Amino acid sequence: MKIGVLGAGMMTEALVPGWVRAGHEVLIGGRTPGKTEDLAQRVGAKAGTLREAAEFGDAVLLAVLLAGLEETLRAAGGPEGALAGKTVIDCGNAVDVSDFSQVTFAGGTSMAEEAARLAPGAHVVKAFNQAHADVWRMRPPAFDGRPFAVPIAGHETGKTVARELITDLGAEPLDAGDLTQARHLEAMAIVVIRLLFSGHDPLSVFAFTGPGRTGEAATSR
Ligand SMILES: NC(=O)c1ccc[n+]([C@@H]2O[C@H](COP(=O)([O-])OP(=O)(O)OC[C@H]3O[C@@H](n4cnc5c(N)ncnc54)[C@H](OP(=O)(O)O)[C@@H]3O)[C@@H](O)[C@H]2O)c1
Repeated sequence: MKIGVLGAGMMTEALVPGWVRAGHEVLIGGRTPGKTEDLAQRVGAKAGTLREAAEFGDAVLLAVLLAGLEETLRAAGGPEGALAGKTVIDCGNAVDVSDFSQVTFAGGTSMAEEAARLAPGAHVVKAFNQAHADVWRMRPPAFDGRPFAVPIAGHETGKTVARELITDLGAEPLDAGDLTQARHLEAMAIVVIRLLFSGHDPLSVFAFTGPGRTGEAATSR
């Protein structure tokens, strides 16, 4: 698969090597060219602009800070709607770390829903926001020998693509529902982020221990 990445930070550095190893072609788009090129070289990817990454990817990882969400999606999608019809996997978290409150948008929506609003027609999925970058660097991400289960919420077509990319990292997808459920995934992550800020191990996680892929449809119970 061709994967475009929007953002050249810690999450990109943690997630991309696993996808490169699985045989995917990755182009990282960043707003700071030198930093983006250095990172791409370290992880075995190509580098380009945000727009080039959006155009390149069949799937696009959105890995930017909340403050950069709108600017990034405008630069990536542009008036031609380069992200329309593509899977966009948002790993971001919307938290005000001054008091660990959740940042929401008009109507109480999540960062992922805001991404869907800013990238009309994109198949947006929330994933990978639940754990620190150090968890995503693990090959595979596993706890006590059990593969890490990764909750996903979003567009049905997008979730099919996200499942493949999660499985390629050696983790297990866990279907948490449609994109409105991203509100809860973003809220849950704040519990972990607060622990990390108070000095807990970066590998602190909600350890989902479902029965495996056959039991993925937790929402139907
Ligand atoms: N780090 C973690 O452990 C972790 C875990 C789960 C989820 N997340 C979430 O994943 C997302 C990416 O995290 P990260 O740790 O990779 O972040 P990061 O290293 O701080 O930066 C990611 C990217 O965001 C861009 N950016 C920052 N502020 C911006 C702004 N105001 N306008 C435009 N672009 C801006 C940066 O651009 P430059 O390249 O120009 O600096 C960088 O490319 C965040 O939403 C974060 O909450 C992080």
